Amino acid sequence: MTVPEFMAKAEEILSGGVIAEKLSVVGRLLATAAREPGFVPEAELRGLHGGDSAATLLRVESSGLTLMLGRFSASEETPIHDHGSWGIACVIRGRDRYRHWERLDDGSKPDRAQVRLLYEKELGPGDWVSWPDRPGDIHSQQGIGEPALELVLFGKNVLEIPRQYFDAATGAVRTALPQ
Ligand SMILES: [Fe+2]
Repeated sequence: MTVPEFMAKAEEILSGGVIAEKLSVVGRLLATAAREPGFVPEAELRGLHGGDSAATLLRVESSGLTLMLGRFSASEETPIHDHGSWGIACVIRGRDRYRHWERLDDGSKPDRAQVRLLYEKELGPGDWVSWPDRPGDIHSQQGIGEPALELVLFGKNVLEIPRQYFDAATGAVRTALPQ
């Protein structure tokens, strides 16, 4: 399966409304596609050089459906953040400690939020997680032992959506476009 074929199939599955059951079907499809040699171009894998966290865009559909390749450093956890979109993250290399956070306040104050850890999962190659739209899309990640490489599918073009970064200890929220 090629990336465009995967995206077309995902759009077909998700048409008529995104619900958890459909995200599961697409998550399994992504894990299957990711196992096929050449699904992720070698050039893209090599392009993510170095040890820090980085991400590259693989494809955006006109519907907004967006596939990215991300690398998550083992030396530092990402900030707790959201994307303003549902998502599916599938590990293709290495291991990832994925943490999902729950927002407890009503979101009425743009620069304040109360978040708490909802669950933590260790993901290896072929494992995936999904999350719903805002406010259910808050997470943080860290590679285990080595950087974790992942395919991440989003319902919207998240490069154009400001992210929120949450400080769980102080309750502060910072909003910024992805770099
Ligand atoms: Fe993320």
